[in-house]
Amino acid sequence: MTTTSELKQGYYDSAPIADNRTTGWNYMRKPGSAYQAGDTYYLTSYDAVRYAQRNPEIFSSAKAFDAISAVVKLIPLAVDPPEHKRYRRILDPMLAPKMIDRIEDRLRDQVRELIDAFATTGRCDVVQDIALKFPTQAILTLFGLPLEDLQQFLDWVDALIGGAVAELAAPSEAQMTAALGLFGYLQTHIERKRANPGDDMLSDILSLSGDDAWEDSEVLGLGFLFVLAGLDTVTATIGFTMMNLAENEQLRRAIIADPDLIAPFIEESVRLELPAPLTPRITTEEVEVDGLTIPADSRVMLVLATANREPENSDHPDTIDIEDPVSHLSFGGGVHRCLGSHLARRELRLTIEEFHARITDYHIPEGFTPQVVFPGGTLHLDSLPLEFTVE
Ligand code: HEM
Repeated sequence: MTTTSELKQGYYDSAPIADNRTTGWNYMRKPGSAYQAGDTYYLTSYDAVRYAQRNPEIFSSAKAFDAISAVVKLIPLAVDPPEHKRYRRILDPMLAPKMIDRIEDRLRDQVRELIDAFATTGRCDVVQDIALKFPTQAILTLFGLPLEDLQQFLDWVDALIGGAVAELAAPSEAQMTAALGLFGYLQTHIERKRANPGDDMLSDILSLSGDDAWEDSEVLGLGFLFVLAGLDTVTATIGFTMMNLAENEQLRRAIIADPDLIAPFIEESVRLELPAPLTPRITTEEVEVDGLTIPADSRVMLVLATANREPENSDHPDTIDIEDPVSHLSFGGGVHRCLGSHLARRELRLTIEEFHARITDYHIPEGFTPQVVFPGGTLHLDSLPLEFTVE
């Protein structure tokens, strides 16, 4: 179904997503595979989203971050091809599964320690006790930064992404203070690691030479993007995956009995409950998608959430089936596909494995309904209390 009808500004913000994503994303698909609402164009079908992802010269990511780039250039998200390729050629191998293997034991110890802290108490809050801390520990570990800096890092992140990423173009005082704190911190460690490299990703980037060598401003832009893209996304996803397991005992039992099912479960959970459901682009020229003419310089949202739930693509578009995982776009696609997807998947797997190593019988307390924070930047749960049998 395609339509060119114009809907009102704020159509997305009024979607009923907080209570029920099936209803919410169906609402977003309803007007068609490509439509305009206010000054924004939405592409909602799998094919339309893939078309935009495969044509980055028409659907620019760099332009979508023009305003923020005046403050800090988010590398490599705010860079278009062909320049973009130089960064990914260097970065992709640094975040490949083999490289994550190198830090897996340390990550496992970190999440185990977080779980041990409440394992004998019979209750926890997954968001507060695990999901807020573990992704930051993972990035500090990847970059070779001291874990003692966790709380300081969490405070900066909280101030920075308390609002939407787009707001960083016109930062509040609190955001500015946090950004300057983070910049100063990264700069100090860049200097330290240039003088004294370690066995970590930051040192690997700083040791590049010749045409591959990076300026400090590029390293800062990457560090800043990792904070914006690699923390609250994983925090949100840990909350959602544990929510799905707590709500579905049969699913939980199946995964505990056969850990090989953890991987397809993670894919299905991330397909249906994704933290970054829309990715922004700006058109560089007039383009037609599914009969809709989109002028040059238009803001286009690629709705990954609806593309993931296309009825034509599976017979269970809105439900988890670990025997039949559906391919999804929750990590994006095309040149800007998520750089941290292997790390994110590993963090999710380690959380589930270590949780189930200690706690297998758990549920959401009666009377509590998990609420997705919406509208806002990243879709996430503020809280996920669990009660469990101490084993
Ligand atoms: C479940 C967790 C995550 C989800 C759902 C997610 C989702 C995404 C999506 C949808 C994109 C594409 C953005 C676009 O096309 O505009 C993206 C890009 C990116 N992500 Fe992730 N992400 C996650 C975790 C991470 C982590 C842990 C890191 C860092 C270690 C990370 C780093 C990045 C970077 C650097 C990009 C930009 C890539 C480029 O422009 O070439 N992400 N992510």
